[in-house]
This record gives sequence, C-alpha cells and structure tokens, in this order.
Amino acid sequence: MGGDENNRRFYLTTPIYYINALPHLGTAYTTVIADIIARFKRMQGYDALLVTGSDENSQKIVLAAEEAGRNPLKFCDEMVQHYHEAWRMLDIGPYKYVRTTEERHRKLVQFFFQRVRDAGYIYKGEYSGYYCTPCETFYTEKELMGEGLCPKCERPTHEVSEEAYFFKLSAFQDYLEKLLRPEAEFVVPDFRLNEMRARVDEGLADVCISRSSLEWGIPLPWDDTHVFYVWVDALLAYVTGSGFDFEQPEKPHYWPAQLNLMAKDIPWFHAIIFPALLRAYSESCKDSRLKLDHVEQMLVHGYWLYGESKMSKSRGGAISPREVVELVCSDGLRYFFAREVPLGLDGTISLEAIVNRYNYDLGNDLGNLLNRLLTMTEKYFGGVVPETPEYRESDAELRELTAKQRDEALGLLERYELSRALEETFAIIRECNRFIDQRKPWVLGKKPHRAEEFTGAFCVLFDAVRAVAILLAPVMPSAMQKLWEQLGLEGRVEDATFADAAKPYPRGNRIGRAHPLFPRVDLNEQTPAPAAPEESGEPDAVEENDMAENMIEFADFQKMEIIVAKILSAEPVAGADKLIKMQMDDGRGGRQTVAGIAPWIKPEDLVGLYVPIVANLKPARLRGELSEGMLLAAQDDAGNLSLVVMQEEIAPGSKVV
Ligand code: MSP
Repeated sequence: MGGDENNRRFYLTTPIYYINALPHLGTAYTTVIADIIARFKRMQGYDALLVTGSDENSQKIVLAAEEAGRNPLKFCDEMVQHYHEAWRMLDIGPYKYVRTTEERHRKLVQFFFQRVRDAGYIYKGEYSGYYCTPCETFYTEKELMGEGLCPKCERPTHEVSEEAYFFKLSAFQDYLEKLLRPEAEFVVPDFRLNEMRARVDEGLADVCISRSSLEWGIPLPWDDTHVFYVWVDALLAYVTGSGFDFEQPEKPHYWPAQLNLMAKDIPWFHAIIFPALLRAYSESCKDSRLKLDHVEQMLVHGYWLYGESKMSKSRGGAISPREVVELVCSDGLRYFFAREVPLGLDGTISLEAIVNRYNYDLGNDLGNLLNRLLTMTEKYFGGVVPETPEYRESDAELRELTAKQRDEALGLLERYELSRALEETFAIIRECNRFIDQRKPWVLGKKPHRAEEFTGAFCVLFDAVRAVAILLAPVMPSAMQKLWEQLGLEGRVEDATFADAAKPYPRGNRIGRAHPLFPRVDLNEQTPAPAAPEESGEPDAVEENDMAENMIEFADFQKMEIIVAKILSAEPVAGADKLIKMQMDDGRGGRQTVAGIAPWIKPEDLVGLYVPIVANLKPARLRGELSEGMLLAAQDDAGNLSLVVMQEEIAPGSKVV
C-alpha cells in the first residue's frame, strides 16, 4: 500500500521461531528488541505493527512432536501457548502472531509461488548435497566444517539426494548488487552488509525450494509430491502477518515491512533470497495491487553466548527467561538486553551480569534518584511540587544537559543504537544525583533567604526525571509506568510522545507515594538483600543525612567486613579517660581493639560479650596501643551510649550480613 496513509505506519518483525523447544534468552532477545523499537515508534506517533510467530512446517517440529508422542499440529498448538506466555511475561505487546500452519498462510504461499513459477523462475532438478536438520539449511560439501559438520551449529549434517524444484536466484545477481549497495543501508550494521555483498560477489547459484522426501509442510500447488522447503515458506510469514490478502488486494495492510530483525545466522535468507523471490513474484503480477516490494531494512544483531557457546534451544539454554524475570522483573531483563551490548555485537550472558546491571544502573542510579526526590518533596513541600516563578541561571547547567542528552538519546534510538541511547539517558540520571549531592537541598531548605533557589532546584529535577521516564518507557514499560505514577502524573507514560519529553513537569502537582522500583537483588541470597540502598526510601523514615551526605554505594557498603568477636579481656588504657583495650577472639587468631567507651561501660562488664566489629578497618594506634577493628555503638543526643551486642552466642569470626 503506498500513499500518505502508509507514511505513519511502521511494520517490523522478529524471525518466526522454530518452536520445537521453549523460548530461551536468545529468542527472547530479538523479541524484546523488536518490542522496544515498536514502542519507540508508537511514542513517535507511528501506527506500529510488530509481527512474530512460529515456523511450524519444519522437519525438526516433526521429530520433536514424535518424541513428545503428539501429532505435529497438536504439539505446535501447545508450544505456541508457551511462546505467548513468555512474551506476556516479558511485556511484549501488542503484537500479531503468525503460524505457518494457518490456512491463510498456506494459501498465500501457494499463490505466491505459482506466480514465481509463471514468471519462469522455477525449474525441476535433482538436489544433492548436505542438510542440517537443526538449522534446516542445505550446504554444499565445500561449505561444511571438517567431518561433515554444519558450519553454523557444528552438528553433523546428512547427505541428501532427491528430486527438487529450484528457484533461479542466479537471475537476480544485478538486482541484488544494486539492493546491497552501501548507501542504501539495506542491511545494518554495515559489517553484516559487507558479508552479504561478498556472498553476492562470489556469484549466486540457484537454490532449492522444495523437498520430495518429506510429507510435513505446504504442498506445491503444481506438484503435490513435494512440499515447500521450510525456509521459503517461512519468509512469506512476514507477508501473511502484514494483513496482505491476495484475494482482496484492496484491503488495507502493512506491506512492505520497514524492518526485519534477526541474528547474524539468517541474513542470507532475508537479505538475498527473500528480495529476489518478491521481485520474481511481482514481475508476474499484472494487477499492481498484488505486487509486493522488498522489506526496507534488515537489522542484524549478534549472539548471546553463555560461556563459550551460543544460547540455543538445545545448548546453553542454562538460564531460563522465567528465572531472570523472577530475579529482576521483565524490566531488568529488557534493560540488560538493550544496554549491555551494542546491537550487532555478540555478548556474554550470565545471571551475575544481569543482576549487576540491575543493581547498579537501575537500583543505585535511577531508583535512588527517584527515592531521594520523592522523599525530599514529601518532607519539604508536603508532597506538592512547588511553583517557581522562573528558571534560575544557577540551574541552567542541569537543564541544558537534560535537553542535550535527551535529544542525543532520541537520535540514537532513531538509529537503533539502543545501548548508547541508554547511556545518554543515564547521564541525565547521574547528573541529577550529582546535582542533589552538590546543592544539598536539605541545607538550602534551612536558609529562608535561599528559598527560591531551593524550590527552583526541585522543579528542574522533576522536569529531568519526567523526561527520563518518557525516554525509558519503551525499554521498561512496566517500571516506567510505576515511576510515572509515583511522580503523580496521570495516564500512561507511553501515551506521551517523545516531543512531550521536553515539556516541564506540572508545577503544583501532587506526587504519588514512593515505593522502591528496583529493590536490590543479591544473587547469593536469591532474595532481596536487606541493605538495599534504594529501600531506605519510605518518606518519613529517611533522615536528611541518609538521603544525601551519607549515601554510599552498595559496593561501598560491601567493602566493609563485619564479623563477630568474643571479648576475652578488657582493661583501661593508662593515661586515657575514655579508652578501653580489649583482647578478642575473632576466629582468626585474635586481635586487640581499643574503644572510647570507658565513661559508659565498665571493663569487667565487657568480658564474655559477643560483639560485631568492623574487621577490615585499617589498624590505628590510640595512645600508643594498637587497635585493630572497631566496635559498634549508638549514642543519643543526651550523650547516652549503647553498645551493639549479639543476642546469642555465635562462633567468633562469623560474618554479619
Ligand atoms: N525459523 C527460522 C527463522 C525463520 S524467519 C522467516 C529460525 N528460527 S530459530 O528459532 O532458530 O530462531 C533464530 C533466531 O532466534 C535468530 O535469528 C535470533 O533472532 C534468535 N536467536 C536464537 N538464538 C540466539 C542467541 N543465542 N543470541 C541472539 N539471538 C538468538 O531461524
């Protein structure tokens, strides 16, 4: 469909997956990235359609169904439900799902190839070569890795020799050379384009499009002793998903797609075979409404590796998407996918890497910023964002930085550079945190003559966090909706357009209640750890000092080693009123610690106590006495002191966590 109507449409696809096994982090990756781009486009005002689906006419489906004791279609029916469930869990949506066993798809494939044949591009021959069933790919002998292994998955291939129909790919050499010229950016990133160009430059051989040794699949309309080779039927799922209907070509649809997403394993099919097929088909369509143009662009990403090997259904699926979502929610995984590696490159995945990203970027930087802002607003302004007459010169730096980073981020999103876009967005967040540290609103608030400065600072911060929520919404739709509500903003954050990101936060608005958005995750515990900095955040429980001056990174807290020690003996330090020196059993051969607690505790009362000590404090000399480590005690305003003591006896050396 041409014309204006199409201008605001954006149609993008994931590969349609082989559903012989459950979705894993590799397939989740492509689907999440596609969903982020779809949401981004919607927030730019596009009517964006995301299509995903399942490639069901493959040999490996038959094998997996056999193993499960089901017929292939029943088996697929069940597996499709798991895929929908996974996509729901990962906040994918809305999307349309195409199954290649659907009737509408079968009819389209048959109609399409009949035209290709009518145009003279299909002939019958004999195929002999090698076939990798897990990859559903044909290879020539010289393409194999040593010992007859598949060059892609390194598993054994088997020799096939059967009657087959061929597509005259060789006739499209010139067409493809033009399509793949660098300035057209048909494939991104450019190093993947170069790979495809190199393959075309080698000279194109005709390709096999049917199997006569299989029964499962879509029969050729002119010869039902053959079924279509699964790959050529699968590519047409994108046309099926667009809503194109050859029986009613006037019906609105989304073809041509703007973007096909995939990993580096399959651009050959998408960037070379598919455009040639579409071209061949269109040549025989007299009715121009039936013609189908090629997809506008291929976005090719790298692989996620687990250790050394690729995450896949059969290997390396060691971490399930569910396991990750249970730890860091869908937002945490989506953020990791988008931020960890630039699209196009390979990345290594591990639970540790996912949790670290979550804790540091989301928990420490973003979670803390929100928490500090809301807590202080509650405390100083009763939860209502103040009115401020106008922006102050002294806040210009943060305002300008927010505007600059915001525009950079949008430009990068436009080019699908998600990781860099997130970097720019997080630069705003870090700058806001720095701004709070430097301005110390809790100090400003005590100085009436600086009231304007005080309220102005809050307004600038609210403007920045509002912009951040909009920029991050495509990546973390659930968390940003919650953030939006905590900011006291109405409606759905995703209903805002990116142009809205430049607007100010409404003055005089009442904020919502602060709840930790990204509670810290401790992998060793597998439960949220108690000392999450972000969790210090219930408004009235937070003191000024906690909020800013004394805020430390969790990593800083982790540097402290607190262990239990038993006080074996204690005596005053000669010549010092306050100091007591203690010999302790610390489970590590003993130590001496000196503490200034003599006015409150008698040495004899200390003996036998089990106390926590900061064990890795640099040793010091107090009045000539070596002190290794420090006791913990609380002191109130009246000067009373209470020593922190373990409630129960516990082995000296035990860690306090
Ligand atoms: N059925 C074909 C695609 C036909 S599209 C017309 C197929 N299916 S697949 O289930 O094997 O999916 C391959 C795709 O899954 C990759 O191109 C990529 O999008 C995604 N990934 C599978 N494993 C992956 C990684 N380990 N890392 C990144 N992407 C991964 O091929």
